[in-house]
This record gives sequence, C-alpha cells and structure tokens, in this order.
Amino acid sequence: MSIGSFERYPLLFGPSPVHPLERLSAHLGGAPVWAKREDCNSGIAYGGNKTRKLEYLVADALAKGCDTLVSIGGVQSNHTRQVAAVAARVGLGCLLLQESWVNWPDAVYDKVGNILISRLAGADVRLAARTEGMITDPVYEGKSMAGLIDLIGRREIEPASTVLYAHLGGQPALNAYSALFS
Ligand SMILES: Cc1ncc(COP(=O)(O)O)c(C=O)c1O
Repeated sequence: MSIGSFERYPLLFGPSPVHPLERLSAHLGGAPVWAKREDCNSGIAYGGNKTRKLEYLVADALAKGCDTLVSIGGVQSNHTRQVAAVAARVGLGCLLLQESWVNWPDAVYDKVGNILISRLAGADVRLAARTEGMITDPVYEGKSMAGLIDLIGRREIEPASTVLYAHLGGQPALNAYSALFS
C-alpha cells in the first residue's frame, strides 16, 4: 500500500526546501552538508515533522466526524504544539494532556559508541546559527547537528560523501535554554 492511497488534508506549503549549508560545510572542511527544511514546511505554528503526519490524522478524524483532537506529550512537546495549531487551522477542538519531565537528558549517541551530553549540543546549536542563521534546539535538532559535526570532523563521514541533514523543527524549545548561551 503506497502513502498516496491514504486521504490527506493539505496543511503544508508543499515539499519542504533542500539547500546547501555552504558556510557550515566550509567550517567543517569535510563532506558537504545540505539541509532538508521540514522546520519551514508550513505557516502553522513553526511547522515541523508532526505537521506532515497531521495531514493524514486530520483527514481521518474529519472523515470519521470527530470534533476534537486529543493528544498527549511532554512539556514543550513539538507534537502537542502542532496538534493545537492544526486543530485551530481546521476548526476542530483540542484537548492536550501534558506530562512534566526534566528536559535535560544526556544524548546517547550509540551508533559509534560515543556519548554526547546535551551541553555539547549547545555549542553546535551555536555553530549552525553562526554559520548559517539556521535555528536548532538542544533537545532534538541540536543533538543530530552535534552528531553530524562530530562525524564529519572525525572523517567518519568521508569528505567525498554528500550529507543531507533533516531539520524536523522544534526551534521554539530553544527559548527554554537561554542559560546555555549566556
Ligand atoms: C523537533 C523534532 N525532531 C525530531 C523528532 C523525532 O522525530 P521522529 O520521532 O518522528 O523520528 C521529534 C519528535 O518528537 C521532534 O519534535
């Protein structure tokens, strides 16, 4: 069964852009890095990968005559932010259950057996912003950026490769980490 066989309620601008990160690539001096910008995929509450998924969930909810979207997530959840915004956009009610959690887990980077702590992501969030003006947050995209920078820097990713970095959103969480950048 192909994804095209599922009903979809259009919420996105279209395919999200892909563009080269020229200054970050030059700074790293290894494999060139491109970015797929799911953080710019719609005009709905900063977008992100969950808005793409919601195109399908909302179509299903509307087809079933639902009047309210109900979901759950942690404090600062990107998912619940997008559920609430999409509910507003399509005229549905919304009920969110929020779990509180300590939002400072160590990132386990198990592919090559290294452990990166979240604080490392702070430096890499800063580098992506300084070289590209691209906003990432230390919870999700900052960690994948930290991994990418580490792998390119150590030539674990060979310079002859071309890297596509998937930016899935989550920038609003950056505001909660101002202490990292003072
Ligand atoms: C900003 C952001 N990046 C990445 C992810 C991970 O996405 P997935 O679980 O679809 O791989 C999430 C999921 O919560 C997210 O909110």
